[in-house]
Amino acid sequence: MTLVLAIETSCDETAAAVLADGRRLLSNVVASQIDLHRRFGGVFPEVASRQHVLTIRPVIEQAMAEARATWDDLAAVAVTYGPGLAGSLLVGVNVAKGIALGRGLPLIGVNHLEGHIYSNWLDPVRPGQPPFTGRRLEESDFPLLVLVVSGGHTELLLMRGHGQYARLGGTRDDAAGEAFDKVARLLGLPYPGGPSIQTAAEGGDPQRFALPRAFLNDPDHPFDFSFSGLKTAVLRLIQELGEPLPTADIAASFQAAVVDVLVSKTIQAAAACGVQHVCVCGGVAANAALRAELARRMSLPYSIPPLWLCTDNAAMIACAGHYRFVAGCRAGYDLDVEAAAQLI
Ligand code: KG4
Ligand code: ZN
Repeated sequence: MTLVLAIETSCDETAAAVLADGRRLLSNVVASQIDLHRRFGGVFPEVASRQHVLTIRPVIEQAMAEARATWDDLAAVAVTYGPGLAGSLLVGVNVAKGIALGRGLPLIGVNHLEGHIYSNWLDPVRPGQPPFTGRRLEESDFPLLVLVVSGGHTELLLMRGHGQYARLGGTRDDAAGEAFDKVARLLGLPYPGGPSIQTAAEGGDPQRFALPRAFLNDPDHPFDFSFSGLKTAVLRLIQELGEPLPTADIAASFQAAVVDVLVSKTIQAAAACGVQHVCVCGGVAANAALRAELARRMSLPYSIPPLWLCTDNAAMIACAGHYRFVAGCRAGYDLDVEAAAQLI
């Protein structure tokens, strides 16, 4: 059995996980800082890194205990080195280096985006949780079309094999999650904005306001996205309408515009690349309207992780780390954090 311990501290979740043989999750501990950052209306980087320092050790100890693993059982330590907040990443990277050095273990640096992609490769295990949509991914499913939708990224990628990516397109400005967070702020809804908008949109009319769908069916930007114009359109709408705001209808109309663009472009990209399987991942993949629209419109088989693996976690880092480990990738003790790390 090959056990990988993974550590993830790229933003505001302190997370550790132990994974067996690349896909079987033995433990997955996530200490969320949402309550700490809520009063700032977003992640406060200095607060985040200090909290990681306080939480990282108990989180790792809990992950090891829940997995019933000893240090001697581990084959490697994987850690997110970027992209993310530099001060937050530093905590995880240095703790991982300490463990690797102390135990003589290989150190594997993982790109956070690659982690999100690999959330789809984990075996669905947690009892009582909704299963993965679709079925277990197999190597024979390559090439895959991947949509990454998180707070920092909106990317369409072609994945030809483990660790092999080609970029088809991505956002030119705000990421989808960032748009959710910014529009939530405009509507006076609490952080994090994605879940707040989703809740506010319940019972709202998604067709009441026709909001822009940038680059949709635009041959010059077939696989690119832009959400800043949509955010500005919502701001103008709010200013025009005045109080009391029809918050549910605005939230539902905004959410429908984002979901329409994401699903349409994913379907178009899959057709253009001739893939037979699609993977969706990242924090915004937790969105119920996106999941419903994918179920309604996607004719190809697709995977989307259960909600608890959509937002940041270390299970996905362990999975990506395992495939890097078996491919022979090793990081040195000079592994540095990269706030703007690119996958490709
Ligand atoms: O992947 P993630 O946890 O962190 C990054 O790597 O960025 O994604 C966080 C983003 C935030 O922008 C958050 O508002 C969004 O995912 N998000 C959602 C939902 N849950 C989280 N967006 C829409 N609907 C949701 N249910
Ligand atoms: Zn993330």
